[in-house]
Amino acid sequence: MSAVLSPANGSIGTIEAQFEPLTPAWLRQVIDVEQRAYPHPWTAGNFTDSLNSGYQAQLLTAGGSLLGYFVAMKGVEEVHLLNLTVTPEHQRQGWGRVLLDALAIWSRGQGAQWLWLEVRVSNERARKVYEQHGFRRVGYRKAYYPALGGVREDAVVMSLKL
Ligand SMILES: CC(C)(COP(=O)(O)OP(=O)(O)OC[C@H]1O[C@@H](n2cnc3c(N)ncnc32)[C@H](O)[C@@H]1OP(=O)(O)O)[C@@H](O)C(=O)NCCC(=O)NCCS
Repeated sequence: MSAVLSPANGSIGTIEAQFEPLTPAWLRQVIDVEQRAYPHPWTAGNFTDSLNSGYQAQLLTAGGSLLGYFVAMKGVEEVHLLNLTVTPEHQRQGWGRVLLDALAIWSRGQGAQWLWLEVRVSNERARKVYEQHGFRRVGYRKAYYPALGGVREDAVVMSLKL
């Protein structure tokens, strides 16, 4: 993916961004964003395993800076979103929407009919972003995520018909 993009809501106006594949050279920056974006971040090993498994991992960059990224796994007529993150200082500027649009375009190109994802029950912000993008809640997975204090948190399962 190499299209030049600007966020759908136009809030940053002049910033132009592009997609490029995640490569090991980007890992340090990705891990830095990951650790600032989540209380339970992915490790470098999670990203390396994803690359080794051939998952789709795309970065959204502007002028050499990282705006965000997604990692997705192709299945039979479906794609499973594993990680979607916008760099904290670039959140709420429409880049999440740009990432989801790119994911949907790539998924359709792979012949997928459905997009699937899990999101923490407590992550109301991400749930709202997904709902605004057309995802619908289709179920729950009990104790799916690690949480603070050694307890676990349920996931909401969401899907989007492409
Ligand atoms: C969830 C996340 C990817 C959204 O990306 P983003 O770039 O901040 O989202 P956008 O700016 O594209 O927002 C899309 C819509 O959601 C709304 N939205 C975004 N952040 C919001 C917030 N904090 N509260 C309420 N609504 C919000 C926006 O208003 C926008 O709708 P609008 O265009 O109608 O105004 C980003 O916040 C993030 O990386 N969070 C931390 C990691 C995470 O939780 N990832 C998801 C794991 S499943």
